[in-house]
Amino acid sequence: MEYLLIEKIDGIGVITINRPDVLNAMNAGVVTELSTAVSDMIADNDIGVIIITGSGEKAFVAGADIKAMQQMDTEKALEFGKAGQKKPIVAAVSGFALGGGCEIALACHIRIASENAVFGQPEVLLGIIPGWGGTQRLPKIVGTGIANEMIITGNHISADEAYRIRLVNHIVPQNELMDTCKSIGKKILKNGPNAIANSLQCIYESFDKSIQDGLAVEVDAFAKLFSSDEAKEGMTAFVEKRKANFRS
Ligand code: COA
Repeated sequence: MEYLLIEKIDGIGVITINRPDVLNAMNAGVVTELSTAVSDMIADNDIGVIIITGSGEKAFVAGADIKAMQQMDTEKALEFGKAGQKKPIVAAVSGFALGGGCEIALACHIRIASENAVFGQPEVLLGIIPGWGGTQRLPKIVGTGIANEMIITGNHISADEAYRIRLVNHIVPQNELMDTCKSIGKKILKNGPNAIANSLQCIYESFDKSIQDGLAVEVDAFAKLFSSDEAKEGMTAFVEKRKANFRS
């Protein structure tokens, strides 16, 4: 990989976008490699949780590479968002998460920000609009009114404001960012992988459904998992007063 650093430790895969000289701006190579790296980790049975971050403290990702924008393959970025439904992905955001950087974070399941994080969808300043899911995911996460303002003003928002509007789950000091994400990852790894995948799928599928249809999806997944080896192990472990072992 030319633009990414890949690390796999104890079931957690860390993908670091590594172009610090341009604040990790994403050219076509970054998008292709990110898509491949996420797909590979989703297919890798030794990986249960994925963390995406940017190199250095100043930026998560400062957006699409404005100098190379016309070469971007937008379909690849959208595929990443869809693929993310199968395995939990945590965004570890330090510094700027602008444009496509904000959208990569939005496509993750959990967003953790350091105190210096700055979010924004400044595309309108360039005469374009968010193209990697910003107009779709942002309103679902923060509500339409706040998303409207962020997208049509292009304003930058601080980590505190991002936390207030529930764009991020937690704010932590910069030097605790990766440890916090890894400890969330370790907690997730203790739980049943099929239960995690099904939970995420139910949550994401229900976005576009009525409550009745969403409940039908949920009860179907619930019933199927009930008879799985994973559920047997989880419940047996509880009765036997031991920790469940889902990943041996
Ligand atoms: N694409 C390409 N290069 C970028 C970039 C981007 N999205 N964002 C930053 N860079 C480059 C700068 O051109 C600069 O390179 P240089 O040293 O060769 O001139 C380097 O990264 C450092 O950025 P700089 O602007 O000097 O840092 P700053 O602290 O003054 O400002 C930002 C930081 C993030 C506020 C500013 O770089 C910015 O607004 N970037 C564009 C953000 C954007 O519009 N993203 C959405 C794109 S759709």
